Amino acid sequence: MKILVINGPNLQMLGRRNPQVYGAHTLADIERSVCSLASELHAECDFFQSNHEGDLCDRIAQAVTDGTEGIIINPAAYTHTSIALHDALEGAAIPSIEVHLSNIASREEFRHRSLTAPCCIGQITGFGGYGYELALRALVHYIEGKVKSAGATANRRQEYENH
Ligand code: DQA
Repeated sequence: MKILVINGPNLQMLGRRNPQVYGAHTLADIERSVCSLASELHAECDFFQSNHEGDLCDRIAQAVTDGTEGIIINPAAYTHTSIALHDALEGAAIPSIEVHLSNIASREEFRHRSLTAPCCIGQITGFGGYGYELALRALVHYIEGKVKSAGATANRRQEYENH
């Protein structure tokens, strides 16, 4: 199962950036722990970070044709502003989970609205880097459940056609 983990602007600064809000772990630390959980869950993760909105849209579009089955995305500040990322996620129609290290609901008002969350199957916010691991577990669970129910549908169709 191929999962893409996308991080938006300024998240390359984790560890040094407002550690009281975002924690002491670097993005590399987070990627390492997600990677080791992925191998436990028989998934494979690809990581992408960019400070540029268009590059993030391009990577999401690429995911449509490169076999990506699920996306974990922290769009960072673009969460609150980017119609382009909203459209990219909606157009890709790949099951996606939005992650935020901080609890955006308890911060400034301008962080309360997410333009991207409505295109995701869910949102995990406020658990620091551990949120990415929670998202990976949830995404694998969702995809496996979906695959099973798609299989069940195919089986029922086969039974119907055999009659
Ligand atoms: C963030 C929250 C955003 O509001 C902020 O702009 C970020 C990080 C988070 O992970 O808590 O850059 O997405």
